[in-house]
Amino acid sequence: MKDIYTLGIESSCDETSASVVKNGREVLSNIIHSQIAIHEQFGGVVPEIASRNHIEAISTVVAEAIRKSGITMEEIDNIACTYGPGLVGALLVGVSYAKALSYALDKPLIATNHIHGHIAANYISHPELEPPFVCLVISGGHTHLVHVKNYTEFEILGKTRDDAVGEAFDKVARVIGLGYPGGPKIDKLAKDGMPTIELPKTQLENWDFSFSGIKTAVINLHHKNSEINKADLCSSFEKTITEELIENTLQVAQILNITKIALAGGVSANSYIRSEFLKLESRGYKIYYPEPVLCTDNAAMIASAGYYKYLEGKYADLSLNAVPNLKINEINS
Ligand code: KG4
Ligand code: ZN
Repeated sequence: MKDIYTLGIESSCDETSASVVKNGREVLSNIIHSQIAIHEQFGGVVPEIASRNHIEAISTVVAEAIRKSGITMEEIDNIACTYGPGLVGALLVGVSYAKALSYALDKPLIATNHIHGHIAANYISHPELEPPFVCLVISGGHTHLVHVKNYTEFEILGKTRDDAVGEAFDKVARVIGLGYPGGPKIDKLAKDGMPTIELPKTQLENWDFSFSGIKTAVINLHHKNSEINKADLCSSFEKTITEELIENTLQVAQILNITKIALAGGVSANSYIRSEFLKLESRGYKIYYPEPVLCTDNAAMIASAGYYKYLEGKYADLSLNAVPNLKINEINS
């Protein structure tokens, strides 16, 4: 079979990224231009600033991805871009650029769901992984427990009712003075602490999650006692959140009778969460997670998800628009 080269473009939040992926699994290049340093001073992503920076960066990032891949623009078979969910102004930059390239080069345009991309990052890090499996998508904007039925069919079995996990990490980190983005900073500091502080855990009647309670509890503890040991607080926060994540994931895996469990999204880079999930391997589960650079936003994962949509002939046309609230099962072919 002929090799298929996908150019992926990602611009849903604060990373401008372009990547060339061969046959959906082999990364030839993955250029990530992060705006973290720009948004850090504001304590979070400022949408208008993000859009402007995407516009400034996108041409260079795409050109660099092509150059590093060792293949030419003409050899690209299709162009996959994130069209949602995300910040509308940010998404529009990648979507418009991909549409222009698709038109100019006369190559198929593949509209890719950002969440499908996070899940597909596992295909790159684990070439042997095939659906079906259970995937826990934990990022700055999403917390979804997903039944990945096949490469393009997904069912959400649980989701957060309030904050996404990453959002809770980022808010807690900001309040206790660790800065933005909070996830990696809490990850680091928690290693110096002990999980000795009791925090509330939410147990809902189904497999949904809720993190606003624990977030508020941590913030209140810090406000009441500014001398409280921050490392212990971070360690306790991570432990309680991880227990909630594992309980729901295990229940879903058991109901579906599936032993393959994958993690995805920025928060799946968390070392404590990874190590706790890995312990499930002694109970007969196989745990997958992407390498750290593929956990947070990047275009290689978008190219991988786009490749599988391309194989099914699901092409978009030039009427494609950004869909900021795109749901996991929304179809745009
Ligand atoms: O997937 P992502 O790059 O963007 C979204 O699609 O939302 O995820 C970003 C989130 C941020 O909330 C960040 O704090 C969190 O992932 N994150 C982490 C770690 N690295 C990134 N959270 C916990 N531990 C980490 N090591
Ligand atoms: Zn993301």
